[in-house]
Amino acid sequence: DWTTGNVIDEQVTAIRELVGDKRAICGLSGGVDSAVAAALVQKAIGSQLTCVYVDHGLMRKGETEQVEKDFVAATGVQLKVVDASERFLAALKGVSDPEEKRKIIGREFIRVFEQAQAEIVADEGPAVEFLVQGTLYPDVVESGGGTGTANIKSHHNVGGLPEDLEFKLIEPLRQLFKDEVRMVGQELGLPDEIVHRQPFPGPGLGIRIVGEVTKERLDLLREADAIAREELTAAGLDRDIWQCPVVLLADVRSVGVQGDGRTYGHPIVLRPVSSEDAMTADWSRLPYDVLAKISTRITNEVRDVNRVVLDVTSKPPGTIEWE
Ligand code: XMP
Repeated sequence: DWTTGNVIDEQVTAIRELVGDKRAICGLSGGVDSAVAAALVQKAIGSQLTCVYVDHGLMRKGETEQVEKDFVAATGVQLKVVDASERFLAALKGVSDPEEKRKIIGREFIRVFEQAQAEIVADEGPAVEFLVQGTLYPDVVESGGGTGTANIKSHHNVGGLPEDLEFKLIEPLRQLFKDEVRMVGQELGLPDEIVHRQPFPGPGLGIRIVGEVTKERLDLLREADAIAREELTAAGLDRDIWQCPVVLLADVRSVGVQGDGRTYGHPIVLRPVSSEDAMTADWSRLPYDVLAKISTRITNEVRDVNRVVLDVTSKPPGTIEWE
């Protein structure tokens, strides 16, 4: 019988048995999956878990602070924050290919983790043998790990792991769909803002810049994304849509006119989608006045952006993310 209570009890027992007196670390990404996975493992093994938050510099505005403050307040987990943004930027320099970006981000992520692990072991003694990941059932299927389905994108928490990985994985959400993960999170007492947070990809804004990732482009996209999120929240639409990627077409320029003269700026793409589990999706029919507000604000407030376009493609054929 499937109940969230049963899922939690089963996982808690299994994780306790598996981990024994060893230690685990868990990467918090800012998303609901890693938050629920961490809370579940925290329930099972308490202070044997240390959470690591890698600030890869690819997060959205305010998200790092949200993890550092809100999540810690809700769960009481031990948290180590690593600022690795310079390192990620250096590794991504000159890279435009989506799969290459994903591989680099996944690889650097694990490397930074291994470094954090070494530091935690040095601080605390007993071996950190386990790595907790918030892998969901759809991730497993799409990466070809579940049912033999062809690999579509190398999701960095499944297929992008480097070969010299040193951890044993704990993936307590591996059999769950997103809505089930939210129910488990709720049952575990996580606050609404975390449980109902919209999904955000591990590689972050790195795969929402079509073209090379630079600090300047990240700052620009962060501003545009914050405006879109602000207006969607103000319009009360957060629970109506699955997520709304905001994408910067960094290698595209178009002519515009603003104030006194001609501009030659970049387009921003809005990709609001409705979905049950991200396996398929439809583009959300957002109210025109909300779209208008977002467009006006982005073009007025974000330097170098002179055009906002709406993605009206379902999945399939388009994936939710552009890369
Ligand atoms: P796609 O673009 O494949 O996205 O239609 C499906 C869902 O997965 C999210 N996504 C990711 N999540 N690591 C993640 O944790 C990733 O590498 C990744 N790539 C895509 C995406 O935001 C959407 O919700």
